[in-house]
Amino acid sequence: MSTIPLNLETDVVVLPPPAGAHTTLEQALKERRSGRAFRDDALPLETLSALLWAGFGINRPESAGRTAPSAHNWQEIDVFAVLQEGAYRYDAQAHRLLLVKAQDLRGLTGMQDFVATAPLNLVYVADFNRMPDAQPEERHFLAGADAGCIAQNVYLFCASAGLATVVRGLINRAELAAALGLSKTERIALAQTVGYPAAA
Ligand SMILES: Cc1cc2nc3c(=O)[nH]c(=O)nc-3n(C[C@H](O)[C@H](O)[C@H](O)COP(=O)(O)O)c2cc1C
Repeated sequence: MSTIPLNLETDVVVLPPPAGAHTTLEQALKERRSGRAFRDDALPLETLSALLWAGFGINRPESAGRTAPSAHNWQEIDVFAVLQEGAYRYDAQAHRLLLVKAQDLRGLTGMQDFVATAPLNLVYVADFNRMPDAQPEERHFLAGADAGCIAQNVYLFCASAGLATVVRGLINRAELAAALGLSKTERIALAQTVGYPAAA
């Protein structure tokens, strides 16, 4: 397990290299499900690293290709990791976390009780400025689809790593956007809670 602390002395957390696969894809597909009962233990930094990489990391450095597809390859979704220590934005290029808010905002990431105590809530934020050719009425659909692709990667990672997860649309978006300091063009698509499963 990493000794690199997720502390607030610095506003950058350099993530360790993502760890390898845990099970076969077939087994992960068999195990994939939504879970809503989480232990509150923190995730090791290696697990967080591998999970973020699986979700929307760089898998083709030569072309900055990502593990999830996106419409027009806009890559408009930013993944925020909301942890007890604070809220961070995942910088996939450098595979690191950038501090956004040194506060525990987990309780604001959704309307279900478990969000406040589960160790990790991912928030998928679409930056409409990165969707220059999208018709206004298409933007929400495409951003939602792109976020959904990331969410499924996270589901499969969790299934393969013995973690519980649930993707969530039930969010007070205005409240969370204000807490994360998002601009008007940055729109919250979905959130996803991750943690060790507790007995339901
Ligand atoms: C776009 C989307 C939004 C969802 N929003 C929520 C939510 O806010 N809260 C929740 O507990 N589950 C949410 N879910 C999870 C679904 O309830 C779940 O996927 C469904 O019941 C099927 O269960 P399974 O994932 O175990 O197959 C959402 C799923 C999707 C795809």
